Amino acid sequence: MITHSAEETIQTGQKIGEKLQAGDVLILKGDLASGKTTFTKGIGKALNIKEVINSPTFTILKIYEGDHALYHIDAYRLENNLYDLGIDEYQPYGITVIEWPEYYESFLPEEYLEVDIKELSEEEREIVFIPHGTHYEELIKEMKC
Ligand SMILES: Nc1ncnc2c1ncn2[C@@H]1O[C@H](COP(=O)(O)OP(=O)(O)O)[C@@H](O)[C@H]1O
Ligand SMILES: [Mg+2]
Repeated sequence: MITHSAEETIQTGQKIGEKLQAGDVLILKGDLASGKTTFTKGIGKALNIKEVINSPTFTILKIYEGDHALYHIDAYRLENNLYDLGIDEYQPYGITVIEWPEYYESFLPEEYLEVDIKELSEEEREIVFIPHGTHYEELIKEMKC
């Protein structure tokens, strides 16, 4: 799909956020400033998270409290240093969102929803959903309803 503003990307994140259940994992791919954190803000909105979701410079994992806990990982600074953040320990208890999964490849769970965001112009983004696993295929089907 195509969004035409940051607000629309937030709405898209919110729409998918409303379908998420505890245990779900999303990986967000895209260049710097493509809109990964903006999309995550929408998920936060769906989960009624009051705290502002941002990309702090030196924090790799942030936990937000909402209707579900949100485990927000920005792996950018791991830069392929094989560092296990122990996702499997908390994954069952909330929603896990991973920015820069390229730097966390070896620790990703088997199944997840991949979200690829591409900058088309200053205000336009292409967002592609790629389900990995039957649970996420179902989720995407539901989204289209
Ligand atoms: N359609 C759009 N979707 C998402 N962000 C957009 C869009 N148009 C403009 N922007 C801007 O692009 C930037 C995206 O930043 P951010 O979400 O932090 O990116 P990332 O986390 O991928 O580095 C924000 O400044 C946002 O306002
Ligand atoms: Mg970000």
